[in-house]
Amino acid sequence: MLDVQNVTVDFVGLRAVDHASFTVEQGQIVGLIGPNGAGKTTLFNVVSGMIRPTSGSVLFEGKDLSRLGPADRNRLGIGRTFQVVKPFGGMTVLDNVVVGALTRGQSRSDARETARATLDRLRLGRFENTVARSLPLALRKRLEVARALATGPKLLLLDEIMGGLNPTEVNETLALIQELNSEGLTFLVIEHNMSAIMRIAEKVLVLNQGALLTEGPPAVITRDPQVISVYLGEPIEST
Ligand SMILES: Nc1ncnc2c1ncn2[C@@H]1O[C@H](COP(=O)(O)OP(=O)(O)OP(=O)(O)O)[C@@H](O)[C@H]1O
Ligand SMILES: [Mg+2]
Repeated sequence: MLDVQNVTVDFVGLRAVDHASFTVEQGQIVGLIGPNGAGKTTLFNVVSGMIRPTSGSVLFEGKDLSRLGPADRNRLGIGRTFQVVKPFGGMTVLDNVVVGALTRGQSRSDARETARATLDRLRLGRFENTVARSLPLALRKRLEVARALATGPKLLLLDEIMGGLNPTEVNETLALIQELNSEGLTFLVIEHNMSAIMRIAEKVLVLNQGALLTEGPPAVITRDPQVISVYLGEPIEST
C-alpha cells in the first residue's frame, strides 16, 4: 500500500532521514520507533507531503506521490495526526472535526453528520460544543485523531498520540486502533510508549539517526541487541 523508497532528507547541516526504505501493506498496523531526533516525524512529513525529500520517492497504492501536495495525498487516502497538536483553538470540538470531513468534499450537512459520528466513536461526543483549546492535552490528542479520521483515510499516520495518557486511556486507544483496523484501516504509528506499540503492531520499524536500523515483529525487535543498545536500554516485555 505504502512504499517508501530510499528516502533521504537533508536540512541545513543535518541529514534527518538517511536512505530509508520500507513498506506498509494494506491492513497492517506498523510501528515506527526510535530515539528522539531519529527522523520519525520527518518521515511522516515526507509521506504526507509537508516536505519534499532530498532524494527518494514515496508510492501509495502504486502511484508515485512526488508531484502531489498534502491536500492531494489526503484525498488519495493518507491521513495523519500532528505530534504538536494544533486544533483550531477557538473553534468547538465539533467544528474542528467538520473541517476534517469537509476536506473530503462532503456537503456541510454531511460533514456535520460525519463529524458527530466520528466524535461519538472516539467518545468525544459530550465535548462537541467545548472550545478546543480548553480541552486537556490527552483529549486534544484524541480530537486530533478524530479530525484525521473524518478526512476518510485508508492509511492513518499517528504521531505519538499516547503521550500523557493514563493506562486506561492507553488501553482504550489501542482498542480503538484495533477496531478501526479490523474494519480495514491501515496504520503507521510513531510511539514512545513501547509496551503499547508492541501490543498492536504486526511489524515494527526502528529508525536511528535517520536510517532504518532494523525491522521485524515485536517479539524479535524487543530482543534485538542493537535495538536495545540504541533505544530500549533494557529488554522490555512484549505480551
Ligand atoms: N524543519 C526542520 N529544519 C531543520 N531541522 C529539522 C527540521 N525538522 C526536524 N529537524 C531535525 O531533524 C532531526 C529529526 O527530527 P524529527 O522531528 O524527525 O525526529 P523524531 O524522530 O520525530 O524525534 P522525536 O521522537 O523527538 O519526536 C532532528 O535533529 C531535528 O532537530
Ligand atoms: Mg517526532
